[in-house]
Amino acid sequence: MLVLGIESSCDETAVALIEETPGEQQPRVLSSVISTQIPLHRLYGGVIPELASRNHSTNLPGVLKEALEKAGRNIREVDAFASTAGPGLVAALLVGNTAAKALALAAGKPFVAVNHLEGHMLSPFITHPGGLVPHLGLVVSGGHTLIINVQGSGNYELIGRSRDDAAGEAFDKVAKMLDLPYPGGPEIDKRAEQGDPTRFKFPRPMMHESHLDFSFSGLKTAVLYTLPKLVPSGNPNDLDEQTMCDLCAGVRQAIIDVLIHKAMRALKQTRHRVLAVSGGVSCNSALRRQLAERCKRARIELILPPNSLTTDNAAMIAFAGLLRAQAGDFSSLDTPVDPNLKLAGAQTRA
Ligand code: KG4
Ligand code: ZN
Repeated sequence: MLVLGIESSCDETAVALIEETPGEQQPRVLSSVISTQIPLHRLYGGVIPELASRNHSTNLPGVLKEALEKAGRNIREVDAFASTAGPGLVAALLVGNTAAKALALAAGKPFVAVNHLEGHMLSPFITHPGGLVPHLGLVVSGGHTLIINVQGSGNYELIGRSRDDAAGEAFDKVAKMLDLPYPGGPEIDKRAEQGDPTRFKFPRPMMHESHLDFSFSGLKTAVLYTLPKLVPSGNPNDLDEQTMCDLCAGVRQAIIDVLIHKAMRALKQTRHRVLAVSGGVSCNSALRRQLAERCKRARIELILPPNSLTTDNAAMIAFAGLLRAQAGDFSSLDTPVDPNLKLAGAQTRA
């Protein structure tokens, strides 16, 4: 079965083709093309929704053509078309979603509306021999921080989430405060590698509370109060290079400590022995190192997507679409996009 996926929920226009062949251990990603708009939005310090949707419309035909060429396939060979239906920016979602529906209609093939968060959550299993297994999912993206008890495809229980800023959002907001370019996660990560994480002790909110929710909004306040103590101007550009790196290392470690602590607590509570971590923040170098070390000590199997599949991509949408298509679970062409789409099948524990 050959599935074409389209992702356009935020600032990446992406198309991927994934193929499942009976008898093979895992599907093959034949192509995964991403056209990023980051340089454009960086000029404004964040994503401008109208610019994002306009650029998706301009970029999508070329990205689609390139994905088919790289895969060496013709559009008529595609068995199902999948696209992100939400959550995300509504006008951006509409571009990829309408294109996938139109292709499905023209080709007379089924359509699958995919939840972006489910795409992230399943992404560690694209390259995992044996495919999806019951596990604890930690999704850490720019918009969401979620802990999910996953029993199988479509069987999800949401057991923890951020009550305010997502982990990626915290990276981005602190970076903005430090006058670093958008998106802030990679910029902080890079500088943190040269910094001392113990020089500044930033708060780890809710870390020792027994529930599995997060709160990251206090971090930006902590950085805001720290800046004037370091330079009278409070201007981050007046900081010496080492202090900037130490601040980045302190912020990064505070976020990582909370994420790992809560994930370990959730593993104990759910008795899962497999942890899968996904979303843009999961390409953070220190998070990956420290997770690997903690999981090894606790004899937990850690599954991480390759770096290329952590930030927004269409391979994860095509993969989620493939699992749904294999189960015959297709979507009507009437299915609307939903900027606040919740994880399908996820029951939230009060
Ligand atoms: O999953 P994603 O591409 O988009 C959403 O669905 O939100 O995640 C983007 C987020 C941004 O907040 C970005 O700063 C963060 O992922 N990110 C990182 C790193 N690379 C991207 N955060 C920390 N360290 C990184 N290396
Ligand atoms: Zn995402």
